[in-house]
Amino acid sequence: VKKTLTVAIAGLGTVGSGVIKILESKMESIERKTNTRLVITAVSARDKTRKRSVDLSSFKWVDDAETLAADPAINVIVELIGGADGAALRLCENALKNGKHVVTANKALIAKHGVYLSQLAEENNVTLAFEAAVAGGAPVIKMLREGLSANNFARIYGIMNGTCNYILTTMQATGRDFKDVLDEAQKLGYAEADPSFDIDGIDTAHKLAILASLAYGCPVNMDALFIEGITRITTTDIHYAAELGFKIKLLGICEMTANGLLQRVHPCMIPVTNAIACVDGVYNAVVLEGDSVGRLMLEGRGAGESPTASAVVADLIDIACNRFTYPFSVPANALQPAKNASIDSHNGAYYIRLTVIDRPGVLSDITQALSTEHISVESFLQKGAKSDGNVQIIITTHDTSEKSMSTAVKQINSFPWAVEPATLIRIFK
Ligand code: NDP
Ligand code: HSE
Repeated sequence: VKKTLTVAIAGLGTVGSGVIKILESKMESIERKTNTRLVITAVSARDKTRKRSVDLSSFKWVDDAETLAADPAINVIVELIGGADGAALRLCENALKNGKHVVTANKALIAKHGVYLSQLAEENNVTLAFEAAVAGGAPVIKMLREGLSANNFARIYGIMNGTCNYILTTMQATGRDFKDVLDEAQKLGYAEADPSFDIDGIDTAHKLAILASLAYGCPVNMDALFIEGITRITTTDIHYAAELGFKIKLLGICEMTANGLLQRVHPCMIPVTNAIACVDGVYNAVVLEGDSVGRLMLEGRGAGESPTASAVVADLIDIACNRFTYPFSVPANALQPAKNASIDSHNGAYYIRLTVIDRPGVLSDITQALSTEHISVESFLQKGAKSDGNVQIIITTHDTSEKSMSTAVKQINSFPWAVEPATLIRIFK
């Protein structure tokens, strides 16, 4: 006898519409896999009159999404509204308290309240699932929590924001400017409602913090992260990166260092020979370095309607099959705060681009500032005088500490010949 699982979908934008399309078009194969009929019982969004890409006429429309949490006819709430607080939080919180499973793609919510919601799920014997929250369609959470559960991780890193990767890739391929490509990413449904979350690195930080919690058994701690976005990356840097054999990508990196767990999000210069440098467009990739499995990379579309909906529906299928795990691998109260390392303790190589007035003594000032901090230069490029009399100087360094580098750059920026603050990009190894 087939079971029935009743589902309410709150939020009918890019992802919500995609979920309805998959549930409708793959109803039979899902039934075969689960012996369960997944029935969409109710839907909700802000504006009932908005034209949508799916036909909603056979579903009950609810004006106030939050009331879905109390509807006894619903087994699972799929939260696709977005936002760390507000309606999304209240809906998930009350749904779990009322014994409903919750599936969400909302990384902002999980990064801020995931541990609390996970506790509620445990107390009420229901599931909180959020596969779509990290790396879109690429099932990295399942892989980390289940397939790689025998491992300790030295490092996990990746491209985790489709919008930023799309922007950087398109800027490199076409020379188009940042704003223009961001507009396009928004039209394609990749960007967050507030795209500053994408380009300022916050979305990647949400995802990285969730992965760090899963991998290192610590509560999600956004305060522990160093975050820098891509807004200062220009086509000039992308061009010089290519000349030096690098591609620029926004990476999220968490690693266990001698000083503790270091979690950082920032643009990186990646050697073109590194596999992750070849992950382009809206694609995301996460590399996991486990002590037993070794190095493993998962690549897939990181944003957009159908890939994200694929992950949401996979969570629904797990619920239909009674496949339950602790949302953060271990019971919420077993998560142990990590000792966190600061970005100052980072050691690595750097790319520096300076715009300077073309006059004698500049190079000697620069080398003096670097040598005072014991920073050794790996390569040096000077691009001829422009009509405005300024030149670009591009330096790459050997490994040094973040602290030394930031002291040297502060010194360099203070010289009267510095036309604008130096652009500093960490080189990834
Ligand atoms: P959209 O902006 O496309 O859709 C949001 C939906 O939520 C809209 O249908 C909107 O209604 C509805 N909504 C907004 N406020 C309320 C409210 N108070 N009550 C009920 N409904 C509300 O967002 P996305 O589909 O892109 O994203 C949804 C979630 O999925 C977010 O958490 C996002 O971070 C996450 N996500 C998105 C991905 C993507 O590629 N887009 C990928 C991975 C995760 P209306 O349509 O009437 O305005
Ligand atoms: N805005 C996000 C991105 C959506 O571009 O990656 C997927 O999480």
